[in-house]
Amino acid sequence: MKILVTGGAGYIGSHVVKALLESKKHEIVVIDNLCKGSKKAIDALKTVGEFEFIDMSLEDVLRLEELFKTHKFEAIIHFAAFIEVFESTVKPLKYYLNNTSNAINLITLANKYGVKNFVFSSTAATYGEPDTAQVSETSPQNPINAYGRSKLMTEWVLKDVALANKNFRYAILRYFNVAGASSDGLLGQNYPNATHLIKVATQTISGRRDKMSIFGDDYDTKDGTCIRDYIHIEDLADAHIYALDYIKENDSEIFNVGYGKGYSVKEVIDAAKEVGGDFRVEISDRRDGDPACLIANSDKLRKLTGWSPKRDDIKLIISSALKWEENIKE
Ligand SMILES: NC(=O)c1ccc[n+]([C@@H]2O[C@H](COP(=O)([O-])OP(=O)(O)OC[C@H]3O[C@@H](n4cnc5c(N)ncnc54)[C@H](O)[C@@H]3O)[C@@H](O)[C@H]2O)c1
Repeated sequence: MKILVTGGAGYIGSHVVKALLESKKHEIVVIDNLCKGSKKAIDALKTVGEFEFIDMSLEDVLRLEELFKTHKFEAIIHFAAFIEVFESTVKPLKYYLNNTSNAINLITLANKYGVKNFVFSSTAATYGEPDTAQVSETSPQNPINAYGRSKLMTEWVLKDVALANKNFRYAILRYFNVAGASSDGLLGQNYPNATHLIKVATQTISGRRDKMSIFGDDYDTKDGTCIRDYIHIEDLADAHIYALDYIKENDSEIFNVGYGKGYSVKEVIDAAKEVGGDFRVEISDRRDGDPACLIANSDKLRKLTGWSPKRDDIKLIISSALKWEENIKE
């Protein structure tokens, strides 16, 4: 298939492009404006296989349309978005413009130019504060921050568009907490100001930070810190290939992507200390917009697509992230 990947220079996008290139089945075009993504990731990907990279923003609708005119895409995998929950609570418009409006522009072009398959990076943040420990795809979606709402609105748009256009199928992938780096050390999380727990812990182990914070230890959880479902980036990347193959042959579908297992922030920090040695941790205030517990029920993804995780091990996830962190050259 000829596939357009938006945000392919970013953390998750680059790992998915790698998996697609390794499959040797597709022709790939990556667009990214490098506002968060890294040219180094693109250069690293060029060692894996051939693809076209275009430094372009989704806002540039005219240029984007030219791309659709000159390439007959059969699928789009849409990663490009802003991703920081806390920032979305203070700069909501930034999130609605990029994560919702720009996504709508892309979906509009996909429909205008007959693109049949659309894989969308959604998030567990669309569930908000679930009533149950595990959430399935049919659990209520009540996001508690602008990030989650900006993604949920895009889900609604995709669903309505697919109802109206029977030739258009989506796979909505609701990721839980993504972490780690590629096993061969080629790719990982690049940006220094990341807010992801495991990234921050490995930055602290490797001396890039002198300490790290636990944001709140008074949540209603077993040790008072937030509980999340951490998935290795390579298992997540594989899920995109399975989901795309599934919608090509079947119908639109929504999939949670996680392991179905929760770790508290303190448990992750303890595991990180076992992997990389001791480091300084302090307790800070809660951040706005952080729900207490988010764990995936990902049975549907396993049953319908045949996906099964290969790296479900918190210490393996942390050690891959640490190996990447220690090899980053400033
Ligand atoms: N990282 C996670 O834990 C997580 C969890 C749930 C969902 N997601 C979703 O996965 C997707 C990818 O996340 P990520 O962690 O790889 O983030 P990232 O910031 O590393 O990647 C996003 C990429 O999109 C690019 N981009 C952003 N806006 C753009 C625009 N207007 N035009 C062109 N390029 C643009 C950035 O430069 C970056 O390379 C996002 O849609 C995010 O909402 C991520």
